[in-house]
Amino acid sequence: MNITIINGPNLNLLGTREPSVYGNESFESFFKELQARFDQVHLDYFQSNVEGELVSAIQDADAKADAIIMNPAAYSHTSIAIADAIGAIKTPVVEVHISNVHARESYRQALITGSKSVGVISGLGLEGYALAIEYAIKALK
Ligand code: DQA
Repeated sequence: MNITIINGPNLNLLGTREPSVYGNESFESFFKELQARFDQVHLDYFQSNVEGELVSAIQDADAKADAIIMNPAAYSHTSIAIADAIGAIKTPVVEVHISNVHARESYRQALITGSKSVGVISGLGLEGYALAIEYAIKALK
């Protein structure tokens, strides 16, 4: 099984970005843990701060992945283009947010991308990615 993880803007700064909200671990370090934990799955990882690159990454992943785990970050709240890309492909997208967006600012309440995703995990920290992978493994068996 192939799973592609796609992270949106500012998630390249995990580990140093607002640690009280997002924790102290970099995604690169966490990704290694995921690879060890889910050694039966081939995991790919892509991150970009650029909306169009994320759209292209979603389209590219559709050709090779059985599932996409995506944290569109701030674009979750603004990007019709990313929502359209998620809606346009066959590969299911599970959306992950590290923080609990529902407990934060009002401008984080609308999840435009979430309306096109299979489901949304929010507020469970980096563990949310692992739970999304577990879901994808079970759902796609
Ligand atoms: C986030 C939540 C978004 O509101 C924010 O813009 C992010 C990260 C999260 O993982 O909690 O960049 O997607």
